Amino acid sequence: MAEKPKYVGKFEWPVTVELNKGLEGAITNATKIGYIDGQKGWLVYRGYNIFDLAEHSTYEETAYLLLFGELPTKSQLDEFDAKLKKYRSIPKEVIDTLKRVPKDVHPMAALRTGVSVLGCFDPKADDTSVENETEIGIKLISQMATVAGAIARIRKGEEPVEPDPNLSHAANFLYMCNGEKPDDYFARVMDVALILHADHGMNNSTFTCMVVNSTLSDMYSSIVAGICSLKGPLHGGANERALAALLKLKDENDAVAYVKDAIAKKQKIMGFGHRVYKAYDPRAKVLGKYSEEVTKRMGKEYLYKVAKKVEEEVIAAYGAKGIFPNVDFYSGTIYYAMGIEPAMFTPIFAVARIAGWAARILEYLPENRIFRPRAVYVGELERKYIPLEERG
Ligand code: CMC
Repeated sequence: MAEKPKYVGKFEWPVTVELNKGLEGAITNATKIGYIDGQKGWLVYRGYNIFDLAEHSTYEETAYLLLFGELPTKSQLDEFDAKLKKYRSIPKEVIDTLKRVPKDVHPMAALRTGVSVLGCFDPKADDTSVENETEIGIKLISQMATVAGAIARIRKGEEPVEPDPNLSHAANFLYMCNGEKPDDYFARVMDVALILHADHGMNNSTFTCMVVNSTLSDMYSSIVAGICSLKGPLHGGANERALAALLKLKDENDAVAYVKDAIAKKQKIMGFGHRVYKAYDPRAKVLGKYSEEVTKRMGKEYLYKVAKKVEEEVIAAYGAKGIFPNVDFYSGTIYYAMGIEPAMFTPIFAVARIAGWAARILEYLPENRIFRPRAVYVGELERKYIPLEERG
């Protein structure tokens, strides 16, 4: 067992402080956007339960809800949807840059680059008024899907396709990734996946976006920072790794052996555990059902069965510790069964999470104060400077 760090919990420095690793328990701000009850396994966007939104809403409507606080009326939704569609096309220079990025670079690195270049071609990028940042937020909700779609195509050596204004956000995203219009079922599956990933409390990437935006840098820089954060395997990058582990398992016996081995080696099992949820992640509940359905439809039932066995084994070993599947465990099985390349899983997460990133940036902006925490200094004081020539 690794020894606990010394400076954790309450101690004097020079006043009494409480320090928890990873800012556990720290509060950034007050918000009306979203709520997680980690004990009950609740996720709420603006007062609406995620199960209701996943069943009845669309990504467009959910994005509007997150940004503006209310479910839109029919005319508000039409107007918002028209704006999203109007913004879908991206400058040719962005596509050209994406084509110049090495093919084997991770698509999250390409997405980071693509969004950064988008900002360079927006003459109003540096206008940090609430009004302008709202407009850029909406623009990015629309355009991140286009950038990610272009990356998916370029990686396969194919030409990016122009967005189709007759398709919903989710259907058009799939179309831009595959070059084929999805049927209603798969468009709905992607729609639900985007809804479930749209916001999630003060997660690392959301916090990162807010930290950067609090300097009054600019919306593009803030979102690029969020992409950088989401890329990590402990955050959004877990979905790709979770699937990679599952793909190595042929059957349920392999699943048992995989979990046993990870436990013996004290390795973290990707797609499990959460800082806030100590109960079953509600997003994993919905995605688990879709995983069963989609894998069956695509003749890949074995993948769901293996995943389910891994889940059972992890819960048997770690459930008492509050470790359950998180959003990243089943999402990959769904995307993989749909024929999406695993490296694109985390960009899909980003294409969804942009709504939450933008909403939370915009909520904080009107009464902005720069984020500026402190660290406990545990080093020495009053050391005597020794000139270079006298150092041994
Ligand atoms: N497998 C095995 N043990 C785990 C796991 C896991 N996936 N997650 C946490 N634990 C154990 C950990 O070893 C530690 O045990 P002990 O107290 O005996 O040392 C305890 O649970 C607490 O873990 P932690 O790493 O201190 O928890 P955290 O709140 O800092 O980290 C987490 C949360 C999500 C980073 C972590 O659970 C993890 O690394 N999971 C695997 C990666 C993953 O699936 N990430 C996606 C998170 S959900 C979506 C997202 O945010 O993108």
